[in-house]
Amino acid sequence: MKINGVHYRTIWAEADGRVAIIDQTQLPHRFTIQTLKTLDDAATAICDMQVRGAPLIGATAAYGVCLALRQDSSDDHLAHAITQLAATRPTAINLRWALEQMRHALQNCPPAQRVDQAYQRAAALCEDDVAVCAAIGQYGLELIQGIAARKPAGQPVNILTHCNAGWLATVDWGTATAPIYQAHEAGIPIHVWVDETRPRNQGAALTAFELGHHGVNHTLIVDNAGGHLMQHGLVDLCIVGTDRTTASGDVANKIGTYLKALAAKDNGVPFYVALPSTTIDWTLDDGVRDIPIEQRAAEEVLWVNGQTADGSLTSVQIAPDITPAANYGFDVTPARLISGLITERGIATASRAGLQSLFPKPTTVDQPASY
Ligand code: MRU
Repeated sequence: MKINGVHYRTIWAEADGRVAIIDQTQLPHRFTIQTLKTLDDAATAICDMQVRGAPLIGATAAYGVCLALRQDSSDDHLAHAITQLAATRPTAINLRWALEQMRHALQNCPPAQRVDQAYQRAAALCEDDVAVCAAIGQYGLELIQGIAARKPAGQPVNILTHCNAGWLATVDWGTATAPIYQAHEAGIPIHVWVDETRPRNQGAALTAFELGHHGVNHTLIVDNAGGHLMQHGLVDLCIVGTDRTTASGDVANKIGTYLKALAAKDNGVPFYVALPSTTIDWTLDDGVRDIPIEQRAAEEVLWVNGQTADGSLTSVQIAPDITPAANYGFDVTPARLISGLITERGIATASRAGLQSLFPKPTTVDQPASY
């Protein structure tokens, strides 16, 4: 996608093997490219959320293995790198998937050839991600076209999204935003309600940033506004992303997604989840019981980052010094609340039968997602 008319991906390898990322902790106020040189740099970028979003976490981990092997291409160091990267964030399954892809490609490769092989594999994972997100966009576009056709001519389709499942969360296009961008390109009038997404404000900082740069009409709302908007007929469709979806269609996504799905159900608003098949955890069934939910530092709840009137970046404390805070990063929306799963192979019902109808052979390390 474009920033000031220039096309960017969220991650790429430089000619000298170092890895470039857009530092998302600086957005929307500073557009900063950061260079990762070592395994530790890659692990820190994921932990500190300079890169975030399930598919981009996976892509960064794949390049983290490349950086590790540049330092030491032995079997032991390969195993160490995979263990270190796998521990960075617990909920997004794409992280584990990408690391298993890398292990599979590299474990029987002679150490002298590993570095080249690793960069090729990481680049292929990124290309796959772009193609998969574009395909999700095409299927989601059909959904939006159907809604647009039922609205009075010229009236925008109002889409609510939570967190950032945009191009900043993937290599390009995004998952939840891919249908939005494709509808916008197709000339369908679109308006997006952007949940701010406390505590880290991925909606305010990232989704608003990328929609704005792409010229998509949007409005930022506080996290609790969605139910009110749905009661008043101001939301035609919800589309969100996911960090892990079980084989039975339960969806883990950014904290607060479940409450939006409940409000959507109560108001008859269709609630869709956009995902690459690499986000499906075929080993799990009951998402509420089995998906690990990341808990992050209390400071993210107690402090808010922003820009002052003079343009400097700062943090301010918003609760008393003695207040304890809990910071659950994700929640699980049960399949019964989900209208459909928009994948690279089409839209499935949120159920085992629905997913299996599109993916009769579950995605494995031997058989990466195809589209
Ligand atoms: O904590 P984050 O910012 O990594 O959470 C991101 C999300 O919850 C996204 O919705 C999800 O990863 C899907 S990204 C295409």
